[in-house]
Amino acid sequence: MVDRWYNIAADLPGVLPPPKDPEEGESRIALLTRILPSALIDQEFTAERWVPIPEEVRDVYRRVGRPTPLFRAEGFERALGTGVHIYYKYEGVLPVGSHKLNTAVAQAYYAKVDGAVEVATETGAGQWGMAVSLAAALFGLRATVFMTRSSYNSKRQRLAFMRAYGATVHPSPSDVTDTGRRHYRPDHPGSLGIAISEAVEYVLTGERRRYLPGSVMEFVLLHQTVIGLEAVGQMPEEPDVAVACVGGGSNFGGFTYPMIGAKLRREGFAKTRFVAVESAAAPKLTRGEYRYDFPDATGILPLIRMFTLGHDYVPPPVHAAGLRYHGAAPSLSLLKRLGLVEAVAYSQEEVMQAALLFARSEGVIPAPESAHAVKAAADLAKKLPPGSVIVFNMSGHGLLDVDAYEKALEWVKDITT
Ligand SMILES: Cc1ncc(COP(=O)(O)O)c(C=O)c1O
Repeated sequence: MVDRWYNIAADLPGVLPPPKDPEEGESRIALLTRILPSALIDQEFTAERWVPIPEEVRDVYRRVGRPTPLFRAEGFERALGTGVHIYYKYEGVLPVGSHKLNTAVAQAYYAKVDGAVEVATETGAGQWGMAVSLAAALFGLRATVFMTRSSYNSKRQRLAFMRAYGATVHPSPSDVTDTGRRHYRPDHPGSLGIAISEAVEYVLTGERRRYLPGSVMEFVLLHQTVIGLEAVGQMPEEPDVAVACVGGGSNFGGFTYPMIGAKLRREGFAKTRFVAVESAAAPKLTRGEYRYDFPDATGILPLIRMFTLGHDYVPPPVHAAGLRYHGAAPSLSLLKRLGLVEAVAYSQEEVMQAALLFARSEGVIPAPESAHAVKAAADLAKKLPPGSVIVFNMSGHGLLDVDAYEKALEWVKDITT
């Protein structure tokens, strides 16, 4: 069981561009310090390479199933007809079914340390909302989740499970905040931007509340490095390629940064390539611009330097809702810019085809987000010489993504092509 998180800022060639305020309006950085647990502000800016994991957080990590397993996907290798060795780290064994719990637990703990009694956040499809709901319950905190109204109406399972964990869930736009009331119409589908604004306003207008973000911030990537640190200890052979999907970047950073850091320090992984896989619906790393932009649609959070499609970009709806994000975390964006990380984008049809092949050959039903990594691993396996090694992160299971699989079965006639 790892006892510290890894901070890539310590090893990056060059300084990580810090968050900054826009020229006009109130200070967003000051706002952050009022809504986030204070330890997270320190972690956002720290240059320390290793950050100790508090014993209380490690205790929860243990109880929810960490370390998670690393498997060799021999059935998938056979199905692909490849001599390449494919391994995957499996975060779907966590009780909420995805990696999101790793940072939710840490953030809820730091909120508790600050004396908070309640945490609030936004969620789209519900992966992050579920993780926060469980983490809050484990630390005796109340959780309030603003869920985009279209998901609230269609993703009833995750809504029920958030409530099962004890959370209060509002469809957003809601009638609970001024922001929600301003946007409210019974048929408004909601957006993550509005839901974030609602959660932030809710935190600012109450006592002893903290806001917990699900990705993009550097401290979120830091907490997720528990995945990669475990994987480094579990892998029987050093990979030629490490692969993970990208929403805001915490899954990719969490999995690969311990390896990238070792490579930058010349302590291993010299030959390893790092491939970030995004959805063609939100192709920021392959088609975005590298510049300062807001991480949220309404511009209430500080500007960060990243690959972005523009904060007002609305990705078309795809089953991999967790990848529908316009930007990528500053450290990941810098690594891509420096050529240390490669990026590739796939459409959901080709991704779900790979997911079906994986399901039939390994048994695990990948989350549509994670299926992007499955597809990239399959493509790489076709190109690499026999004996090469690929490792990817299976960030979650797809057992609640029934609609995605129903559609996939309609799209995909022959899974072998
Ligand atoms: C299963 C799963 N994998 C990957 C992601 C993308 O995560 P990140 O924002 O950490 O890149 C998400 C986001 O919700 C997810 O639910």
